[in-house]
Amino acid sequence: MTWLITGGAGYIGAHVVRAMTEAGERAVVYDDLSSGIAERVPEGVPLVTGSTLDAELLSRTLREHAVTGVVHLAAKKQVGESVEQPLRYYHENVEGLRVLLSAVTEAGVASFVLSSSAAVYGMPDVDLVTEETPCLPMSPYGETKLAGEWLVRATGLAHGLSTASLRYFNVAGAASPELADTGVYNLVPMVFEKLTDGEAPRVFGADYPTPDGTCVRDYIHVVDLAEAHVATARKLATAPRGTDLTLNIGRGEGVSVLEMATLINEVTGYDRPPTVTQRRPGDPARVVASADRIATELGWSAKRDVREMVTSAWAGWLRSHPEAGRG
Ligand code: WQD
Repeated sequence: MTWLITGGAGYIGAHVVRAMTEAGERAVVYDDLSSGIAERVPEGVPLVTGSTLDAELLSRTLREHAVTGVVHLAAKKQVGESVEQPLRYYHENVEGLRVLLSAVTEAGVASFVLSSSAAVYGMPDVDLVTEETPCLPMSPYGETKLAGEWLVRATGLAHGLSTASLRYFNVAGAASPELADTGVYNLVPMVFEKLTDGEAPRVFGADYPTPDGTCVRDYIHVVDLAEAHVATARKLATAPRGTDLTLNIGRGEGVSVLEMATLINEVTGYDRPPTVTQRRPGDPARVVASADRIATELGWSAKRDVREMVTSAWAGWLRSHPEAGRG
């Protein structure tokens, strides 16, 4: 098969491209390079620069490269920004997906994998979040991901595509320094930034109903996540048309912000205890996946632990912030 990977020049997308090509799949990257980096696309993989809102370019790309499956990662992904710019998020994430699906059905593509998010669950009041846990997103970002899942499923059923929505939990780490996340929007890079600036990392609230009072999340290594895409792609390639999978991608293990901050200090060689600040609005106390369904359906489970995530992310950070190595 030939897989079109939208957002394939982004942090997660580039890892998916690498995992897919290493597994022997043909890949074509489609990316508008708004946050993606062309250098992340490996040699030999074609890069088409364009928007998922460009119906004509999409149709041409699908045809010219004889694409048979799509992994769609291209999207806006900042929760806070989505609260301020809901129209932009619905336009890019939902309308962009609709335009893409329209081209996909016309081109006779067989399989479609959507990058979704644990943000579809909102504030789940359960110990482990299963795919049956009610979806009550708390932000326009989460809403666009949930609407996207519905659109993908309905299109698959109507047009005989096999589809999957992968709900990522908290992604961290890198396969190699040059593929590391360059954004500073999540806990790990935000702690790195504070340490590098000679400041104490911040813990947003220590009065949550959790064992140490700080928020608990399920961190997943980006290489494990990428391998889950390969397993999903392979499954869809042989699944009957009309198959639809909704799968959590996590490790099923909760790690608190305080545990993460302590581990980061240890790995980086800094010694700066974090400062507790105000809660960040909208943060759920605990979001941890049940990773049972993907293990049963695909035989996939995560192999890499939190220390490997932090160590590999730090190697990437040092590449872009050489001054940080004095810790
Ligand atoms: C993790 C925890 C913070 C920085 C978001 C999206 C989700 C997904 C991943 C998707 C929280 C705390 C953070 C800091 C802190 N995005 N924190 N100090 O909010 O779980 O998930 O990103 O595509 O949909 O909601 O991730 O990394 O921002 O925060 O205490 O300096 O770390 O409050 O409890 P989050 P995060």
